[in-house]
Amino acid sequence: MLDPVVTGYLTEWERETRSSIVFRSAKGAMAEDIDGKTYLDMTSCSGASPLGSNDPVFKARLAQAMERETDVLPSPVSEQRQRLAEKMATMFPDHPRVFFLRTGSCATEAAVRIARHRTGRPVILTAGFHGWHDLFQQHPWSNNPPAEDRHIQDFQYDLDILERQLVENQGRVAGIFFTPEPSVFPPELLQKISRMAKLHGVLLIVDEVLCGLRYAKGGYCQQHGVKADLITLAKGIAQGVGLSAVVGTADAMEGADRAYLGNTYLRENRAFVAGNLTQELFEEGQIVARLAESGAALKELFLLSFERNAIPARILGSDSMFDIVLPSLSHGRAFAQRCLQHGIYIGYPGKYMSNAAMDDAFFRALQPALERALADYRKDQDMTVQVTEASVVEYCAKAFHATEHACLSNKHHWA
Ligand SMILES: Cc1ncc(COP(=O)(O)O)c(C=O)c1O
Repeated sequence: MLDPVVTGYLTEWERETRSSIVFRSAKGAMAEDIDGKTYLDMTSCSGASPLGSNDPVFKARLAQAMERETDVLPSPVSEQRQRLAEKMATMFPDHPRVFFLRTGSCATEAAVRIARHRTGRPVILTAGFHGWHDLFQQHPWSNNPPAEDRHIQDFQYDLDILERQLVENQGRVAGIFFTPEPSVFPPELLQKISRMAKLHGVLLIVDEVLCGLRYAKGGYCQQHGVKADLITLAKGIAQGVGLSAVVGTADAMEGADRAYLGNTYLRENRAFVAGNLTQELFEEGQIVARLAESGAALKELFLLSFERNAIPARILGSDSMFDIVLPSLSHGRAFAQRCLQHGIYIGYPGKYMSNAAMDDAFFRALQPALERALADYRKDQDMTVQVTEASVVEYCAKAFHATEHACLSNKHHWA
């Protein structure tokens, strides 16, 4: 038996930072626990809630729509699903076919299955987080996977490792599966990987579960002119309701026609109603631009507070999704603990993600909470150490399982 206390990432996460917080309610980016303590959420509910929790317009219009619509249908093929599929095809014109699923991990696993069926090959070369399924909880994401899978090989954002794996597995690679981490890795990295995929005749799959609908309208690949074969999406499709998708070219999606991807709860019509409504609200409210605006304000507030308090810290990334790097992991953990203590909900490593409901009241509450957290953090940590290259390397290893070489060879992007 594995010892979950020693080995579990989630266990470690919960033990160190979050286990005592039991949420009762949330509004916008402010949540309340069962003791009445308020938390300011830096994560936009792990990216699932770009509009903010309990958005009044979303709730009212969903309730209104559900008076007309059916909750669950005998088949997963429905009018609402087809409407959403059309919307996705308009948003992702290079990827006219879409297959819906429920969670991000469902989508990433489905993408692998589709790629394997399309190519008839087993090996997937991967970089970055793709969720909790066994397939992706291999080295280096899990130190002790009970079932080691030699068909899943992680190149850790390192092009030297990727090149070696492509050569060693020649004729057996179905695809390269890449999660953009725009805080640290530039679009040119994915552009290079795209060229390598073409050269070796393998599919390019990009995991945009986290960034796809918030980074830019139409997602990361479209923004940077990368022609992926398959893209996985989830957060932001249906505002907190579980709905994910694989979008793909007609050619790559032939794999979906041969694969079993049955999914009972795609019959939940409500999820597609929520998806259509969310996409309408994204258009009407220019939500991607608003995420960038509130994210810029969030970033600025952290930056000024760090400066004012002479705290060594570096902020990396775009306005709507960024990372904060501190001198060491132990500084980072201490910072996250102080944040939680003072009602700022974030971990370390952690992705700061704005939502459209971060308003003046939110920022007025955040400012003094952060001052208090920083004052306490300063007291027990060494403030003479700086954030160095080594700090970023350590952060990238922990957050993205990137090698030192991968991190440093993209230094021009984050330095
Ligand atoms: C890039 C990426 N892929 C996949 C997943 C897995 O999604 P889920 O937690 O919905 O299974 C996540 C979740 O954070 C993610 O960020």
